Amino acid sequence: MGRTAPLVSLLAASSILFNGVSATLPTIAIKGSKFFYSNNGTQFFIKGVAYQSGIASAGGGSTSGDNSTGYNDPLADSTSCARDIPYLQKLGANTIRTYAIDPTQDHSACMAALDAAGIYVISDLGQPDLSINREDPQWDTELYNRYTAVVDSLSSYSNVIGFFAGNEVTNNLSYTGASAFVKAAVRDTKAYIAAKKYHAMGVGYAADDDASVRANVAAYFNCGPTEDQIDFWGYNIYEWCGDSNYELSGYAERTAEFANYSVPAFFAEYGCNTQGGGAAGREFTEVAALYGANMSSVFSGGFVYEYFEEENDYGLVSVSGNSVSTLADFNAWSTQIHAVSPTAVQSASYTPTNTAGQACPTVDANWQAATVLPPTPNQAVCSCMMASLTCTVASSVNTSDIGNLFNQVCGYNGGKPCAGIVRNTTTGTYGAYSMCNSTEQLANAFNAYYLQENSASTACDFAGAAQVVKAAGAASSCSSLIASATASNAGGATGTGAASSTSKKSDASGMIVGASFGAYKYFIGFTMLAVASGAGMILL
Ligand SMILES: *[C@@H]1O[C@H](CO)[C@@H](O)[C@H](O)[C@H]1NC(C)=O
Ligand SMILES: *[C@@H]1O[C@H](CO)[C@@H](O)[C@H](O)[C@H]1NC(C)=O
Ligand SMILES: *[C@@H]1O[C@H](CO)[C@@H](O)[C@H](O)[C@H]1NC(C)=O
Ligand SMILES: *[C@@H]1O[C@H](CO)[C@@H](O)[C@H](O)[C@H]1NC(C)=O
Ligand SMILES: *[C@@H]1O[C@H](CO)[C@@H](O)[C@H](O)[C@H]1NC(C)=O
Ligand SMILES: *[C@@H]1O[C@H](CO)[C@@H](O)[C@H](O)[C@H]1NC(C)=O
Ligand SMILES: *[C@@H]1O[C@H](CO)[C@@H](O)[C@H](O)[C@H]1NC(C)=O
Ligand SMILES: *[C@@H]1O[C@H](CO)[C@@H](O)[C@H](O)[C@H]1NC(C)=O
Repeated sequence: MGRTAPLVSLLAASSILFNGVSATLPTIAIKGSKFFYSNNGTQFFIKGVAYQSGIASAGGGSTSGDNSTGYNDPLADSTSCARDIPYLQKLGANTIRTYAIDPTQDHSACMAALDAAGIYVISDLGQPDLSINREDPQWDTELYNRYTAVVDSLSSYSNVIGFFAGNEVTNNLSYTGASAFVKAAVRDTKAYIAAKKYHAMGVGYAADDDASVRANVAAYFNCGPTEDQIDFWGYNIYEWCGDSNYELSGYAERTAEFANYSVPAFFAEYGCNTQGGGAAGREFTEVAALYGANMSSVFSGGFVYEYFEEENDYGLVSVSGNSVSTLADFNAWSTQIHAVSPTAVQSASYTPTNTAGQACPTVDANWQAATVLPPTPNQAVCSCMMASLTCTVASSVNTSDIGNLFNQVCGYNGGKPCAGIVRNTTTGTYGAYSMCNSTEQLANAFNAYYLQENSASTACDFAGAAQVVKAAGAASSCSSLIASATASNAGGATGTGAASSTSKKSDASGMIVGASFGAYKYFIGFTMLAVASGAGMILL
């Protein structure tokens, strides 16, 4: 987002026609660690509600959403929007968070209705089957296509503040390396928004509140080159339960930790339900603290979790067909949010003092993600590589066998056949083709092995999974593409395999590729589940 853009230039843009539709809401700009209305420079605080049904079930792979997409896009259903927006207004919400939208659907009716109601949107970019999977993290062409399609589909609406590139992906010490892929997604989505010249929209990350990783995760996403950093930090935080207070809850410590953060921070989820009485028993005394003098200079508000009452019992309303019943916590939150009046600064009189990012965490046993990030997914590079191969994956190969085939070919020649697809988050070593899809990556490894074995026919077999082909012949544009892809991934890249066409056993033992390519679904990194929220609560 245009943090450094002078506000005057945004002033002119604010009442522009978006997509031919007269938008009433000014875009939200970021300057330093605060949000501002772009029309008049008044600071903007998120008074947010998490708004998406069925995600817990969809994300957990259980019963509800049986749509072809497996999730219900809340911005595609104009009937539900029309039903719910009056309740969001009555609550006093000015922003909703959506978790999975379908870029092939039409969002114009809901977005216009939200706009008319003064409501902004921050949306996650993944969906339950396609997000960054902490157990087999990748940032590949398929995810890139999904993320950019979501950006495209919401880009024309002035009331879109931005996106989350991941939600609770690194949630304990086992998954710290996965943050490298999420940060690469942040970098590439930001670059995409800028290249398309869309209105200012930020790209952030929504973290859980796991005590073992939260400091390193916060530092990592706010460190290194500015173009790699998040535009905002969302905290899914369930520390304040029942009749707690600023000190007892842990809020005081969290606030001190973010006092110097150089981009806006806010709560991407809050609303502990363990105080007794479940969701309906919530009194939301934390709202006064969040928007009060201790915190409002550090945090830009937050999103209460969540609008819909579901099995996980966090709802403000219960919905049946077209009828909405408010629960007791609906009035509680509404009363609390209407009572706050956070001290707002004017953009023109605000000079950010905290302009430096954080120091990147040291790579050690507790942090496995280097500052150097995975490559930008680029289908053209993958296609060029594929066109150059003389040994490739047979079309008959069953995708469920791909994991085993990787294990086999990467086990040969000290791992050397897989140098072009290696992903090592601790050293920041990534093969130039590690962002291609799994079939393409396997083809790259088969071909490299074949060349290393001097094109012996027995080396392109793998029990029928590999087959010799006549190289299709790459387009003339390919050589420069391949050269720049390999140069920018100097660590592990070996071009099409030609560069490593020696059968000499090499010391490539430090290189491994993700072991579990069998996992085609990316659902594990997608966890706005009751379970995940519950885990956050006990880790103060
Ligand atoms: C600035 O504009 C916003 C959006 O129109 C509005 O809500 C806010 O009240 C304005 N600020 C002032 C100080 O008028
Ligand atoms: C998805 O399926 C549910 C239940 O089957 C249905 O109520 C909902 O309208 C569907 N949503 C979309 C976007 O098709
Ligand atoms: C992280 O979570 C996973 C899944 O819940 C668990 O198997 C693993 O042991 C955890 N790692 C640590 C270090 O707690
Ligand atoms: C924030 O910055 C101030 C001034 O540079 C410094 O004294 C303080 O230790 C910093 N706080 C944190 C939490 O980094
Ligand atoms: C602000 O912080 C002080 C000192 O920790 C605390 O006593 C007070 O309750 C806090 N105020 C709010 C509204 O949380
Ligand atoms: C692929 O393999 C799985 C597991 O062995 C099997 O269930 C499935 O039918 C196979 N698919 C095809 C198209 O052969
Ligand atoms: C991977 O890319 C190849 C083309 O290079 C394409 O034929 C194949 O369908 C892709 N696989 C997936 C799972 O997208
Ligand atoms: C990454 O590379 C280092 C140095 O070669 C090696 O020690 C480490 O085992 C590698 N990590 C993985 C996960 O392959």
